[in-house]
Amino acid sequence: MNKGRFIVFEGLDGSGKGTQIKLTVDKLKANGHNVYSTAEPTSSATGGLIRDTLGGFSRRSSYELGALFLTDRIFHNINDINGIKKFLDSGIDVICDRYYYSSFAYQGLDADLQWLMDMNLNCPEITKPDLCVYLDISPDRCDERIKNNRFYTEIFEDYNTIVQTRNRFFEVFKRLDKENIVIISADRDVESINNDIMAEIEKIKNKNISI
Ligand code: TYD
Repeated sequence: MNKGRFIVFEGLDGSGKGTQIKLTVDKLKANGHNVYSTAEPTSSATGGLIRDTLGGFSRRSSYELGALFLTDRIFHNINDINGIKKFLDSGIDVICDRYYYSSFAYQGLDADLQWLMDMNLNCPEITKPDLCVYLDISPDRCDERIKNNRFYTEIFEDYNTIVQTRNRFFEVFKRLDKENIVIISADRDVESINNDIMAEIEKIKNKNISI
């Protein structure tokens, strides 16, 4: 049996990740693949602590938040009920909305980037994705979409933070040159964006090792 493919979607808030993830999952299923769709932060107890901070209800340092995301990510990988590893090992493709790249981009705005990268990339219980799709929209477009779609804003959603976070993502991608990361322009129509994503997923099909 082939192992499942592990595909992560990243992008600024309002980049259209949700729409593209849904379309991608639907297409993969229509093509006969088993797919498990998941997201970070998870609904674990740690995920709850994280959401309190993202919503502005409890303040935490970027180091503390980075460590909470790390704990949540380990649980996300290895828990027996719906852990990423379990699905991949049984041949199911896993699509994940955000992963360690977000920790580097968001917590890396304040916390030491190398520390965050070491903790996540050197942890044997954190699976490396087969593909990271970064949906790239301009900061102006992002700001506009957030303002039109939200009743409240989260802590990372002011304009300057959006610009800095986007720059941080690109800096991180340069450092992760051994990983399979594709930057897809998301200032286009939904179908064209999705066609590009599906083409990238097709390319990783043959990388699977037999188990
Ligand atoms: P959420 O509203 O749950 O989803 P999204 O904006 O992706 O549709 O927000 C998740 C927030 O968590 C987002 O602002 C980015 C942030 N985040 C981090 O700061 N570090 C991380 O490691 C992850 C996974 C997310």
